[in-house]
Amino acid sequence: MRAVVHDKYGAPDVLRLEEVERPVAADDEVLVKVHATTVNRTDCGLRAAKPFITRFFTGLVRPKRQILGMEFAGEVEAVGSAVTEFAPGDDVFGVTGAGAHAEFVSVQEGGAIAQKPAGMTFEQAAAVCDGAGLALACLRDAVGPGRSILVYGASGSVGTAGVQLAKHFGADVTAVCDTKNLELVSSLGADRVVDYTQEDFTRNGETYDVIFDAVGKHSFRRSRRSLKPGGIYAETDLGFLWHVPLLALLTRRIGDKTVKLGITRHTKNDVLFLKELIEAGKYRAVIDRRYPLKDVVEATKYVETGQKTGNVVLTVNGESRP
Ligand SMILES: NC(=O)c1ccc[n+]([C@@H]2O[C@H](COP(=O)([O-])OP(=O)(O)OC[C@H]3O[C@@H](n4cnc5c(N)ncnc54)[C@H](OP(=O)(O)O)[C@@H]3O)[C@@H](O)[C@H]2O)c1
Repeated sequence: MRAVVHDKYGAPDVLRLEEVERPVAADDEVLVKVHATTVNRTDCGLRAAKPFITRFFTGLVRPKRQILGMEFAGEVEAVGSAVTEFAPGDDVFGVTGAGAHAEFVSVQEGGAIAQKPAGMTFEQAAAVCDGAGLALACLRDAVGPGRSILVYGASGSVGTAGVQLAKHFGADVTAVCDTKNLELVSSLGADRVVDYTQEDFTRNGETYDVIFDAVGKHSFRRSRRSLKPGGIYAETDLGFLWHVPLLALLTRRIGDKTVKLGITRHTKNDVLFLKELIEAGKYRAVIDRRYPLKDVVEATKYVETGQKTGNVVLTVNGESRP
């Protein structure tokens, strides 16, 4: 099969399309023929081994797993002998540790995989799980009816998910983004949109129960006075020198405003929850650009500009039927 491989860490040019051996589904695995996948910020971080500490998990000198790619949507090609939930021909979507930048990926039946939402294309379905999983990890216990939230960086993959999920959980949502994304972010359900090129939300006197930095570009220090007493500053990025986990620990003991670091372990329950939301018309994946798998280097360079709107999709087996 064709797959994007990398055998060393580095710039996007270390990625190359190659013929590799097709995976075989183990007893508890589903072999998925991938129609679409994405390039996300985790793929970029793992490829570049940034921050350096990721090497302790992915291989100190060179990557142990040569094929990146977490999100996938496609068709079940084969199933292992113990699999009961899926059968060949099922359309599925989900997120896995690695391996989706390829024509086939094998995924554990009990992992973050489910039947593809009805009415969604493979490209749309591939762009659902990672950003939304991260946003869920930050927001699920923090927002609800009667609570106010400000989503900073509302135009990214995590941000577009955060706005929609906060709205679904019943919160009053203020979203912060660039001028060009105001309309999009309003269309996702934000009650108010702040253009960060025109207004500094920390200086307008408004306060919130939750400030969610979905893009890792703000800080607890700068947001403190915009938080209500007992407020939560939620963040997906570990921060410079990984200081965010430390702040999360400290603020649990000191002061009345806490830092929460959202770390997701993508689960089947999350994927099923998102499928239900999509089918109820309450969630949609925002796609910025689509590239064929062979243009993965170009796609990756675009993701690394830090300016994508929502998600960047790679089309793999040329299918986009709903
Ligand atoms: N905790 C984890 O396990 C984990 C895993 C993956 C990713 N992450 C983190 O999650 C974060 C978000 O990822 P993502 O894929 O959603 O990001 P992204 O899509 O790359 O975010 C880019 C978006 O953010 C906007 N933006 C850029 N600079 C901004 C600023 N200073 N203020 C406000 N908006 C800004 C950009 O629009 P404009 O430039 O037009 O404003 C663009 O729409 C990243 O920091 C990533 O490291 C965490």
